[in-house]
Amino acid sequence: MDTLLTTLAGWLEPWATLHGDSVGLQTGVVFVHLAGLLIGGGGAVAEDLGTLRVARGDPARRGERLNLLGIAHRTVVFGLALSAATGALMLGADFEAMAGSAVFWVKMGLVAALLANGALMMRAETGARSPGPDGARAWRMLTRAAGASALLWFLILFVSVLLRQSA
Ligand code: HEM
Repeated sequence: MDTLLTTLAGWLEPWATLHGDSVGLQTGVVFVHLAGLLIGGGGAVAEDLGTLRVARGDPARRGERLNLLGIAHRTVVFGLALSAATGALMLGADFEAMAGSAVFWVKMGLVAALLANGALMMRAETGARSPGPDGARAWRMLTRAAGASALLWFLILFVSVLLRQSA
């Protein structure tokens, strides 16, 4: 395992050197990583809170909320893609330390949970458009997924700060 990590780190050495020698490059990568967090996480948490509010209010407003959620997903996925791409660049720049860090793998587990929860949320959105008990069940699932999404974004942020402090 250690040999594999060392071999991969060796392949990534030119990128690690380039990144390590350039404050401008490091600033740009972190800036885009955090811009992705602002676009993706900011948009997602605002939508999640909107869904939780509508779930407690007038059911007549649910259709409008579902339409807004449909539009928001694209922005959230775009922000997350920016964070994922620049996250991969930072991983490559310090591969052995990151791949050997339990905190890094906890963060990746949380990102995977966020993606799975997002897929569940999109399925629930489709179901929530149906009338009757099926639609009501899908709404409950959507509400739970919205709560989980907001929680996961903050957990990922917390673990990321921990990762930075422990690096
Ligand atoms: C999707 C895949 C992601 C990967 C592979 C990734 C990877 C990384 C890596 C390797 C670092 C550098 C840690 C260090 O140098 O100590 C980092 C920093 C950070 N990440 Fe991510 N990340 C991802 C997504 C996210 C998301 C979704 C968020 C926000 C919720 C986030 C927030 C942060 C923050 C706040 C930092 C610290 C930036 C700094 O102060 O330099 N990351 N990430």
